[in-house]
Amino acid sequence: MKPGAFLENLFVRKIEFDIFPAENSDCDEFSRLHGERFYRRWGDGEFHSLMTQDTVFGFSARVTSGPSLGLGGFVLARAAAGEAEILTIAVSDKFGRQGLGWRLMLAAMRETRARGGETIFLEVDEGNVSALGLYRKLGFRQVAERKGYYADGDGGRSTALVMRLDLR
Ligand SMILES: CC(C)(COP(=O)(O)OP(=O)(O)OC[C@H]1O[C@@H](n2cnc3c(N)ncnc32)[C@H](O)[C@@H]1OP(=O)(O)O)[C@@H](O)C(=O)NCCC(=O)NCCS
Repeated sequence: MKPGAFLENLFVRKIEFDIFPAENSDCDEFSRLHGERFYRRWGDGEFHSLMTQDTVFGFSARVTSGPSLGLGGFVLARAAAGEAEILTIAVSDKFGRQGLGWRLMLAAMRETRARGGETIFLEVDEGNVSALGLYRKLGFRQVAERKGYYADGDGGRSTALVMRLDLR
């Protein structure tokens, strides 16, 4: 053990996470976190109706270093006919920039491959610096843009970038 590591472990308890396949029982928590991270919250009914579709899959990132499996983030995607689409991804503000978005996206990419998908698409607001950073680091490249696609809370509209990643 490095000098000082004992004290560090004692006082700064590192939070650990694991990635789990999304389940129907997650919908309520997904909806709550979605509402914290997006202007228009998807209700748990919307999550339920997505989760009952065979083509839709997802993953949650949960705390595994404590007594309860608290939600740190989740991703939902849809795969059909060799292509997948990231439907939504959100990481709790409390656990931002700790690699959860990265791990969730890798899980979605692996599952896409397992389902025979070769390409993943997603849409992202051109001003969403953190999401763009994550997607570019994963190798996604812009292939189109949709002007005025997103509404913000103040009556304004912003451009969506369509991004693509080839998995082969
Ligand atoms: C986008 C989001 C999922 C990223 O999750 P995260 O767990 O914080 O991201 P990670 O820690 O896995 O970051 C992975 C990489 O993404 C990039 N990144 C993440 N946050 C960033 C930021 N604020 N600024 C610039 N790059 C950033 C970096 O390249 C980072 O790698 P690094 O930390 O080694 O530099 C999270 O910020 C979020 O939930 N945002 C609100 C919801 C949202 O916008 N979803 C996407 C809609 S398209």
